[in-house]
Amino acid sequence: MGPPEALVRSLVPAVLSDLEWHDEVSSTNALAAEAARRGVPEVHAVLADRQTAGRGRLGRSWHAPAGTSLLLSLVVRPEVPVPVLSLLPLLAGVALAEAVEPFCSGATVGLKWPNDLLVGGRKAAGILGEELGGAVVIGIGCNVDWRAVERPPELAGATSLAEAVGGTVDRWRVLAALVGVFGNRYRAWKAEPGAFLDDYQARSATLGRQVRITRHSAPAVEGLACAIGPDGSLVVRTPDGATVRCSAGDVEHLRPL
Ligand code: BTN
Repeated sequence: MGPPEALVRSLVPAVLSDLEWHDEVSSTNALAAEAARRGVPEVHAVLADRQTAGRGRLGRSWHAPAGTSLLLSLVVRPEVPVPVLSLLPLLAGVALAEAVEPFCSGATVGLKWPNDLLVGGRKAAGILGEELGGAVVIGIGCNVDWRAVERPPELAGATSLAEAVGGTVDRWRVLAALVGVFGNRYRAWKAEPGAFLDDYQARSATLGRQVRITRHSAPAVEGLACAIGPDGSLVVRTPDGATVRCSAGDVEHLRPL
């Protein structure tokens, strides 16, 4: 079952230009990319209960059983200089953290670089940004309530909001909060794209930690995660005192300082 009519009416057209609901799709990012090619206005949302080919970062797949998650892709058309486009997934991460926090009573809500949502230290959501000409698709997969499903071994370390708080969480209330916070954050970002980075850093579960970053096209880096660059890159200080900027990769948190 899709989002309640009253919720859709409160979001469209006030915050979203349109919201497509699908019981099953290949990937909401793929449908959002098609919508972007058709020229839909921003902010166009594609939402599904189930994906048969959900995409994760770095070529991975994204798995979520029906009824357990928010699987959402937003099409935006920001008229900003190209270098700041890479900040959008980080912005979405901040919006997601702020949106879910009220549902996560007591649990720490943080962001593992670049934009994994950690609740109580475990991954509860991931974000995949994809650029297509003038549009950007921001795909958000948030595990809302996985209490009734068996998790495959490769997701043993992950969690869902309901598990993290030990109670029920309504995915439509999370959707309403997320779309609202993202809408405000996105408007502010278009006016001043770097301004949110202080809030990102304050949410970061990575800064100040020893990390190992595995990269596709460069050797792995190990060192202290010491800053976020103006383009959203992670700045790592290696034991020999060198500074390495990583713009993509897989971060492993080693030990706290
Ligand atoms: C990650 O690897 O952490 C990012 C995962 C992003 C998954 C979401 S689910 C909704 C949207 N559609 C996709 O195919 N992927 C994103």
